[in-house]
Amino acid sequence: MESKIKGLEQKIAEAKLGGGEKRIDAQHKKGKLTARERIHFLLDDASFEEIGMLVTHRSNDFGLEKEKYLGDGVVTGYGTINGRLVYVFSQDFTVFGGSLSETHAEKICKIMDLAMKNGAPVIGLNDSGGARIQEGVVSLGGYADIFYRNVRASGVIPQLSAIMGPCAGGAVYSPAITDFILMVENTSYMFVTGPNVVKTVTHEEVTSEELGGAMTHATKSGVTHFACANEIEAINHVKQLLSYVPQNCEEDAPALPYENSGSELRKELNSIIPQNANQPYDIREVIAGVTDTDSFLEVHKHFADNIVVGFARLAGRSIGIVANQPAVLAGVLDINASTKAARFVRFCDCFNIPLLVFEDVPGFLPGTDQEWNAIITNGAKLLYAFSEATVPRITVITRKAYGGAYDVMNSKHIGADMNYAWPSAEIAVMGAKGAAEIIFKNEIAAAGDKDGKWKEKEAEYQNMFANPYRAAERGFVDEVIKPEQTREKLIKAFKMLENKAEKLPKKKHGNIPL
Ligand code: HXC
Repeated sequence: MESKIKGLEQKIAEAKLGGGEKRIDAQHKKGKLTARERIHFLLDDASFEEIGMLVTHRSNDFGLEKEKYLGDGVVTGYGTINGRLVYVFSQDFTVFGGSLSETHAEKICKIMDLAMKNGAPVIGLNDSGGARIQEGVVSLGGYADIFYRNVRASGVIPQLSAIMGPCAGGAVYSPAITDFILMVENTSYMFVTGPNVVKTVTHEEVTSEELGGAMTHATKSGVTHFACANEIEAINHVKQLLSYVPQNCEEDAPALPYENSGSELRKELNSIIPQNANQPYDIREVIAGVTDTDSFLEVHKHFADNIVVGFARLAGRSIGIVANQPAVLAGVLDINASTKAARFVRFCDCFNIPLLVFEDVPGFLPGTDQEWNAIITNGAKLLYAFSEATVPRITVITRKAYGGAYDVMNSKHIGADMNYAWPSAEIAVMGAKGAAEIIFKNEIAAAGDKDGKWKEKEAEYQNMFANPYRAAERGFVDEVIKPEQTREKLIKAFKMLENKAEKLPKKKHGNIPL
């Protein structure tokens, strides 16, 4: 037996070396961790149980039968993060560049199937040269097997993709289907076709980083939700994200113990809104003032920053926040802001995370660029996402709630459970200036002092509608509250909504305007 145990130990040691010391050194020289080091930093100490360590590829083409590595370029298994079960796969760039073979794909599928049966998140640590070129279509089939499972698992278990190296070609579509993507600056990139193909087809000269690096996807395309300074930061973000999210769609979002340490009044909220309604302020100040200290984790921070989305805690409970950002483009809704917020709302609804909306929006962004790129379809995504959401939903109107944007931003009409307004709220079809110009056009034209008349009519409209009371009279606003009361009101209201049970009409699935 002893010699057999030795034999096993040798195999384990061999598997742990992946593609060998030289390639591990090369990986480190690039500033990257190895597949196993990443798992070590991700999971609780000694919690990792590996599955399929001795798997090898089955290819006999191009001399591949002479080059086999135990594990075949991906480390898979399960473990815990803060005591909660997760499944993980971590691609090993030291073995054929982490490229995806038939067996490599089978290992990933195996843990995805286990995750589905047992209702726990899947975390993918991606570092791969794409399809194992020597295997041809078998490798493509392997990708499709993963894509199919990603879609089946969508909305059932959380799926997170950390991109730690190359991710190119069709390989990008697995992360794209998952719930969140995290990238590492300078060492990871994602693109469907790389710089060489781009140069041939469009004659554009572009580096990998410019074409598909972390900041490119964080700011321009919105493909990645997080751009991290290094791998450890990315791993820590994965852990933090999971702390707000339930294990699966049947469970509630986790709550931390919370003891009311005194008053929930937050006086500082009274002085955030500027005197002049056209002056900007940072909605993050409102978020920070209302939620538990330092609990806000912003998602998609660098993309469409005219809207802010992210997770936070309120009296220990996990909530999702969607907030117009008056500090950027006056908080207007455009295509990117709409799709960013819609996707976040749908994630929260999939996983039973209550939604809190802070509203200060002058409307949808006008212009040919927006119209020709389908602000109609894209704005409708946000409308659809809110209307479809059955989780507890509360809106706080801090200032402007104008036009169609009033309806879209989680109004009572589309199913919000509670709608609060601050006294500074202005709920109207449009701003007073524009409204006066249209409805008092003739009176202004006939007046001797046109500017004076316009100002007078603007003030008239302002006095009538630039407040929350018309909406409150109708019950569209449930309560007008002092800003300082917001936290207390929200804690109570979310508690009241704790057992909300709402079902959508029976259907196969809806048809969101894609
Ligand atoms: C097999 C691969 C490989 C691949 C890399 N390697 N990519 N082996 N299949 N796809 C091997 C290399 O031969 C090398 O082996 C080792 O991995 C490291 O690669 P290097 O080139 O030395 O590393 P580096 O300079 O860091 O460059 C990394 C890279 C480059 C940018 C990823 O290797 C590359 O361009 N690879 C090919 C990418 C590609 O075209 N993939 C197919 C895309 S199509 P040794 O033995 O020297 O260590 C695709 C379709 C998916 O993926 C469709 C899904 C629907």
